[in-house]
Amino acid sequence: MRPDTPAPVRLEDYRPTDFAIDTVSLDIRLAPKATQVRARLAIRRRDTAAKGAPLVLDGDELDLVSLALDGRPLAADAYTAAPDRLEIRALPDGPFVLEIETRLDPDANTKLMGLYRSSGTYCTQCEAEGFRRITYFLDRPDCLSVYTTRIEARESDAPVLLGNGNPVEAGRIEGTDRHYAVWHDPHPKPAYLFAMVAGDLARVSNRFTTADGRDVALNIYVEHGNEGACDWAMDSLKRSMRWDEEVFGRIYDLEVFNIVAVSDFNMGAMENKGLNIFNDKYVLASPDTATDQDYAGIEAVIAHEYFHNWTGNRITCRDWFQLCLKEGLTVFRDQEFSSDMRSRPVKRIADVRLLKSHQFPEDAGPLAHPVRPRLYHEINNFYTATVYEKGAEVVRMLKALLGPEDFRAGMDLFFERHDGEATTVEAFLACFQEASGRDLAQFSLWYEQAGTPTLTVDSKYEPEARRFTMTVRQSVPPTPKQSAKKPMTIPLKAALIGPDGTEMTGLSVAGAEMTGDTLHIRNPSHMIVFSDVPARPVPSLLREFSAPVHLKSDLSDADLLFLAARDTDPFNRWQALQSVALSALIKATQAAAGQRPITVDPELVDAIGASIADDSLDPAFRALCLQLPGETDLAREIGKDVDPEAICQARRQVRATIADRLAETMLATYTAMTSPGPFSPDAAASGRRALRNVLLEYLSHGTGGQDGTLARAHFDAADNMTDRAAALGVLVHARLPGHEEALAAFADRHGHTPLALDKWFTIQATAPFGDALDTVKRLTTHAGFSMGNPNRVRALIGAFATGNQSQFNRADGAGFDYLAEVVLSLDKTNPQVAARLASAFRSWRSLEPERQARAEAALRHVAAMAELSPDVRDIVDRCLQ
Ligand code: PHE
Ligand code: ZN
Repeated sequence: MRPDTPAPVRLEDYRPTDFAIDTVSLDIRLAPKATQVRARLAIRRRDTAAKGAPLVLDGDELDLVSLALDGRPLAADAYTAAPDRLEIRALPDGPFVLEIETRLDPDANTKLMGLYRSSGTYCTQCEAEGFRRITYFLDRPDCLSVYTTRIEARESDAPVLLGNGNPVEAGRIEGTDRHYAVWHDPHPKPAYLFAMVAGDLARVSNRFTTADGRDVALNIYVEHGNEGACDWAMDSLKRSMRWDEEVFGRIYDLEVFNIVAVSDFNMGAMENKGLNIFNDKYVLASPDTATDQDYAGIEAVIAHEYFHNWTGNRITCRDWFQLCLKEGLTVFRDQEFSSDMRSRPVKRIADVRLLKSHQFPEDAGPLAHPVRPRLYHEINNFYTATVYEKGAEVVRMLKALLGPEDFRAGMDLFFERHDGEATTVEAFLACFQEASGRDLAQFSLWYEQAGTPTLTVDSKYEPEARRFTMTVRQSVPPTPKQSAKKPMTIPLKAALIGPDGTEMTGLSVAGAEMTGDTLHIRNPSHMIVFSDVPARPVPSLLREFSAPVHLKSDLSDADLLFLAARDTDPFNRWQALQSVALSALIKATQAAAGQRPITVDPELVDAIGASIADDSLDPAFRALCLQLPGETDLAREIGKDVDPEAICQARRQVRATIADRLAETMLATYTAMTSPGPFSPDAAASGRRALRNVLLEYLSHGTGGQDGTLARAHFDAADNMTDRAAALGVLVHARLPGHEEALAAFADRHGHTPLALDKWFTIQATAPFGDALDTVKRLTTHAGFSMGNPNRVRALIGAFATGNQSQFNRADGAGFDYLAEVVLSLDKTNPQVAARLASAFRSWRSLEPERQARAEAALRHVAAMAELSPDVRDIVDRCLQ
């Protein structure tokens, strides 16, 4: 480690603050280059604090203008001020009022943390540590205060002035061109939930009546001209509010709920109390510019941020190590919401695909960390797939182990006991332990131990004894700083499927506790015996993906294909087919690497053919069955000496082979799935589009599609973005005749809609050809691209680094070198986004030696720079460790 690396933050060092800040009164006078912020803080020393201890407030690049204690300016020797710290000595024993004035330059704020401007609109982002860029404060989640915010601006620049909580007062300032608004939030909150917005924005309004009969004003604020693209977000919000009442008994608690969409945002969205601020990608939708996936994403993110009102805001985190307490739980809640709005198995498959393609690789590489880490250098780097997605899986497992009633009782107890508090994972688990009477000590290891466990299942059937025995073994791999692991509690949902395809019921089980269909795996090894089993069954294991583990079973391809056709759990039908496809792709990759011909077993082809043609199945589900495991899934499964080019080639070849063998069925279903009426974003219509578009992809990669006729016709006939982007993707990724014209037509049509143009960037950045890197470089000079906008950077460069495995991991290292250069230049303006990009290196150690050496050289080049942000420094250091 470098000698100048700042000390890490450790969980074991947590201690409460010496001071409480009970109320915060902010007076913010906005001006582009010189915004004045006056903070009036009512502070008291806690009983637990040492007498005479100084008050040390956090700052970040702050410029202090004045400081007063109980109305009198502070003497120069009573405090020390630096941009990142304000220390005040000689404070009274009793309560006191501190007045701090700082000056900010929102226009110069390119980090998009604190107060900044997006297309002229003033907005804030304070999670995790952005409030300290506005004023000096105890900027930590366990400091809860009641906020009153006065915002003042030129009326013509910013007719709309928004703050947290409820509006209390507004007016003009006589004799000037300025006006103001005062907002009051009665709910004590940590500084990371503070927000304000000021700008010239259009408003779309609606109302909601809560279960207890209160009327809530709902508003969505967007740039003028986008009013027509808010209906879906508004509808999603109303459905979220109703669902949280019905399913979790949670009612909204303010008179207004405001959402603002901004175009420059580092993350997806932010749950500031009563004033959610969104990346506009998760608000704006019209059939012409948003895909079905965008619609689903908006529904999920609107719900997620709304659900934070209880899980995150009313009950918040004691410290940032507890981030999963709000994020994992809230992701679980939004996933449940989407499942109820759409098809549960389809949603589950989508979530598991995301988990396996993003979280599993993270957990298998140098950036692996527990769901609740114990140490960090830069908290911004812990908004990860592990904290969010694996964190949600942990909550889902809790529900599986406890059953729905005890789970709900535990949630109710949590809300009742911890409302208004900043709390911990331990306090959360204690509620479930009390509600269920179960000991959750071993279960809590899911929060502590990093790495994806492996469950190995071997089975045998003894016909004479009518006995079916499964040996279940678990192991948890070593991860950075955690070499030895303990056995975990793993819910293994299972059923035995008889030869006729029905579930065997009424069996007696020994060897592990079983509640409902869930086996509780706790030991390193269990011998689980089912008796009175009349015939050899096929076990359907890890149903609904009941735990985030690797399952290695001794089921043959024939068993798996039987499950793919007959399992009564739709998730496992999909999973079984994927398992067979995955081994076929691995074989194909070995063949590609050894320059041998690639073949595909006819049984797999037949199984895929059967799922295409089965009209009893939901089209959305059939679409998922057709999707082959992705390149990163294959890389993860292969594990070492990975050659991403061989993977890509093998996958394309297998897809083409399947397409040729099934061309007739595919074309028939493709035609049958043509939309019968006008566009609708609902689950049924989007499922038909998904199936038709995945069939288009197959057919266009097959021999019959090579002339591009089908894909061009699809593109030309598209009356919505889902179909248009799918067709463009196919034309470009299969390099079909007409792809250049289609790219030009798309740019013509959407050149002035940045979110739509992002799809155009992504499609080109992810084309698996040798010129992709040059294309990416060229597109960075396109008029629609900007390094200052995180969505553009992610759509072009992020997509290249994470969505184009064969070209990012080029054998000559040019992809790595390019990403290193981008990371270094972006680090100067937006370290958070730069660090995200840098994490695309996270699987470098599993590459084959030549690529590994080139990736390492690029990482070392970045690490050697003296002036790196803590964000990028942390990622490259951990990648190299
Ligand atoms: N808390 C936000 C969420 O709901 C994510 C976020 C984190 C946004 C940090 C901005 C900054 O997921
Ligand atoms: Zn969240």
